[in-house]
Amino acid sequence: MSELFRFGVSLEKDLLDKFDKVIRKENYSNRSEAFRDLIREKLVKTEWQKKGNVAGAITLVYDHHKRDLLNVLTDIQHDFHNVIISGQHIHLDHNNCLEIIVVKGKPRDIEDLANKLKAAKGVKHSQLSMTSTGKTIR
Ligand code: NI
Repeated sequence: MSELFRFGVSLEKDLLDKFDKVIRKENYSNRSEAFRDLIREKLVKTEWQKKGNVAGAITLVYDHHKRDLLNVLTDIQHDFHNVIISGQHIHLDHNNCLEIIVVKGKPRDIEDLANKLKAAKGVKHSQLSMTSTGKTIR
């Protein structure tokens, strides 16, 4: 654990009021913790612009009755087996499936995979949640 360092931040009162209102709603106990999260978020965003490894999760919702869709999604995932750590398939109802694909690797490969899955005909919703391997942030 590195030592804590204090620093002052100057900003407009109304901006701070709005910020306080938002973080209160999100149950932050103090501004410091909210600032830490904002900084970490910025660091993760920066990680995704570099060439090092990142982690993430891709969620997909689709109708498994759609012709060929399962084959297409499986083929795409096999092409990216090097970045896929695991996958979970949940049968939401008679028609709809939710798939969660956990990924780790180079940002470009992961974004490429996410874009290809999203573009598959019959996928209703897809989202890439970008996070960190945790090695570069505390
Ligand atoms: Ni299913």
